[in-house]
Amino acid sequence: MCPARTVRGSVRLPGDKSISHRYAMLAAIADGSSRLENYSTGADCASTLRCLKSLGVFAERTDGAESVIAIRGLGPSLAAPSEPLDCGNSGSTMRMLSGIVAAQKVKSEMVGDASLSRRPMERVIKPLTGMGAKIESHRGKPPLRITGAGLKAIDYKMPVASAQVKSCLLFAGLLADGETRIEEPVRTRDHGELALRAFGAEVARSGNEVRIRGGQALRGIEARVPGDLSSAAFFLCAAALFPGSHLLIDGLLMNPTRARLLDILMQMGLKISMTQLDEAHGEMVGTIQVEGGRLKGATIAGADTAALIDEIPVLAAIAPYTEQGIEVRDARELRIKESDRIAAIAANLRLMGANVEENEDGLKIPGQQNLRGAELESFGDHRIAMAFAVAALRAEGESLIRGAEAAAVSYPAFFPTLEGLVER
Ligand code: S3P
Repeated sequence: MCPARTVRGSVRLPGDKSISHRYAMLAAIADGSSRLENYSTGADCASTLRCLKSLGVFAERTDGAESVIAIRGLGPSLAAPSEPLDCGNSGSTMRMLSGIVAAQKVKSEMVGDASLSRRPMERVIKPLTGMGAKIESHRGKPPLRITGAGLKAIDYKMPVASAQVKSCLLFAGLLADGETRIEEPVRTRDHGELALRAFGAEVARSGNEVRIRGGQALRGIEARVPGDLSSAAFFLCAAALFPGSHLLIDGLLMNPTRARLLDILMQMGLKISMTQLDEAHGEMVGTIQVEGGRLKGATIAGADTAALIDEIPVLAAIAPYTEQGIEVRDARELRIKESDRIAAIAANLRLMGANVEENEDGLKIPGQQNLRGAELESFGDHRIAMAFAVAALRAEGESLIRGAEAAAVSYPAFFPTLEGLVER
């Protein structure tokens, strides 16, 4: 990556990863066919489709377009898989699909790559076991050997804030006997709830509690997945680095449980205007225009940390260029993502010459630092690769990111798209 002068242009993003996974999974257990446009092009969402195919579902790219997917639902009973369900690098696939797999009266095995095999799964094993499934794991980590069963509803207070776990349990609850009640410690993204409603199920919410009645039938939908806000974050932060930058993103997901990034960037001084707000299957979509200016600092803690969990790597990567710096707290979950993101951010920033304080549950990164280009590492993590491509834009000298191909996990076209937006 070479330094840039500014960021200018317009971009439309591939479909949101979180919504793509959920639509595909629900389409598989719906009655009738679904057609999903602008389905995420990332490898993670391809892992979900691969697993659904192993469960006997017709799920194919259609219309000669990579991002249009046709899925023929089988209703609540899927086929017994003849091979392990390969979730690749995708925690979302393993955690959310386990809720559906656990309700099938068959045996299945869910496996993942080296990174996924290190990630904790007790968070789904415990409640799904409470609902009646039998799950063997490698000390709480993948592979998961699931003996499905007729599940019974659960009343569950989630110990960690995790939308993946919430969706897993909502999906399992839909296929269970009785009413499932889930309480989350803080409000997390609500795509699972909205997607279930889009497919015709009733889901009730009051405060941090969601409820679903088992045995409701889903019907297939035709939907266009809104542009991925977590992918947009890289371009927004790139634009934020340069006074005079101008960026337009249309068809973008604006779901309020995901859009905290926009508030934070506005508080930091980025000018953002939103137009053409619309709603599709309960999800808000819109166009945003941003203009770079001076960039103040921020503190991210508590519920904000959960709301910004996927955007923290890029916010931290640009922190040294801000006026007051950025402090991140309550982010222990970042240590168990695709990589230990706290350690990865600190290591790369230090390689660029930054002063960083690394804490068990966060980072403190002073502002007004000048960084130099360096040989950086993605740690096999898509968001680290993309975050540091952005940081490199304002460094002095060239940077090299080893393992940058990891970006393909969520956004294969990231590097060419970024190149199309930067002016040197
Ligand atoms: C996701 C939830 C978050 C996030 C992940 C996608 C989702 O994970 O980091 O990229 O789609 O529900 P947790 O639920 O583990 O916080």
